[in-house]
Amino acid sequence: MDCSALNLYELNSQKSGVLRLTLTDFRNYPHLRINAHLGPIIITGENGTGKTNILEAISFLTPGRGLRAAKLSDIRRITPALVPDEYMPTALGMVNWAVSATVQKGDDTIEIGTAVEKSLRESEDDTRSFDKRIVKINGQKTSSQAELGRHISAIWITPQMDRLFRGGSQPRRSFLDRLVYAFDLEHAKRTANFEHLYRQWYQLLKAGKSNEDWLLSLEENMAALGVAIAAARREQIAKLNTFIEHEPDDVFPNVILELEGIIEKKLDKLPAIDVEDFYRDLLKKQRRNILYNDSIDGVNRTDFKVFYRKKRMPAELCSTGEQKSLLISIILAQTKCQTLDKGFAPILLLDEVVAHLDEIKREALLEKINQLGLQAWITSTDPYLFSSLKDTAQFFEVKNNQLKEKSI
Ligand SMILES: Nc1ncnc2c1ncn2[C@@H]1O[C@H](COP(=O)(O)OP(=O)(O)OP(=O)(O)O)[C@@H](O)[C@H]1O
Ligand SMILES: [Mg+2]
Repeated sequence: MDCSALNLYELNSQKSGVLRLTLTDFRNYPHLRINAHLGPIIITGENGTGKTNILEAISFLTPGRGLRAAKLSDIRRITPALVPDEYMPTALGMVNWAVSATVQKGDDTIEIGTAVEKSLRESEDDTRSFDKRIVKINGQKTSSQAELGRHISAIWITPQMDRLFRGGSQPRRSFLDRLVYAFDLEHAKRTANFEHLYRQWYQLLKAGKSNEDWLLSLEENMAALGVAIAAARREQIAKLNTFIEHEPDDVFPNVILELEGIIEKKLDKLPAIDVEDFYRDLLKKQRRNILYNDSIDGVNRTDFKVFYRKKRMPAELCSTGEQKSLLISIILAQTKCQTLDKGFAPILLLDEVVAHLDEIKREALLEKINQLGLQAWITSTDPYLFSSLKDTAQFFEVKNNQLKEKSI
């Protein structure tokens, strides 16, 4: 399929995005309601006014912990009236938070709500209360956040991701897994279940409780889930690499994506069933590592490598602006792939995305967003950087915990 010939504007005839967003006691917002259109939306305001918080709220309409990977308890609005003269975090007044939205997908409108509820967890020794995220779709509570993926999908770029290609592999792995979720809803469940089993296995070994049957059963299940996770990641990387080959190699350069992981590599040579056996044995062999605080190899260590194709340069050795351009290339390819595959586009959440981009790149990005004809929420301190979108974008200014629509 020659994807460059595809007119995404036409393909994206199933318009999608958030029509109305309501925040309640979310970060700095006691109550906020915004009516949005299904094109570019520029949110500007001074530092600390609440631009990123809006993007974070939208990210909570999708599975996971949002674009800041925050603790649920950090999101509740801290009420300044209750902050004592002497700063004492534990004495701050807290309220529960909620985000709700009317979402359009083609001819359908869907009501999505997410909030935090206190739940109790009983253990052998005591009962503890913890925060639990609940999700409602059209008023019905759903048991799995993954269900959200059927109705809405979002892809984000944040300033923290400027360092995505440098440093530890964990943020790259989460980034990759989010790209996979968008195509394969089960992947979110698999990774959550794998982590849950891994924690049990780790704690059991750390505590020195040698319940052989239990350990073997955990290893068996982890191996099965791990191989499914690795296979889904490989499939996604292959899909994106094929797609990118047909993309223009312009200001956002073509990339080559690679996976570096012991289980993913085994799948190059062996059928999945044999890789499961291999993984189970590998986990068993590594039991001792936990006692010595050594790392455990497997899908929890996989890295996602990106190369600047024309320069044959690993992304981590590219300049700051080049790294941002490579990231944008991946995001654009994923966005188009997803639109083709699902028939509706993801929402783009672009936090301070034009920082580090020169004028040519900035204008090229804005033009591409316009061409894609999708909903893109973009933050910046300067509305005038977006004057080329003045006829197509909605502009909001944030001030005093409220958003005001304005023209530029
Ligand atoms: N739980 C909370 N309760 C109340 N306020 C919060 C909470 N968490 C964060 N804030 C505040 O929300 C404000 C807005 O944060 P946000 O990150 O959205 O700002 P911003 O407009 O994106 O700023 P910048 O331009 O610096 O990126 C900050 O002043 C922050 O301290
Ligand atoms: Mg911000």
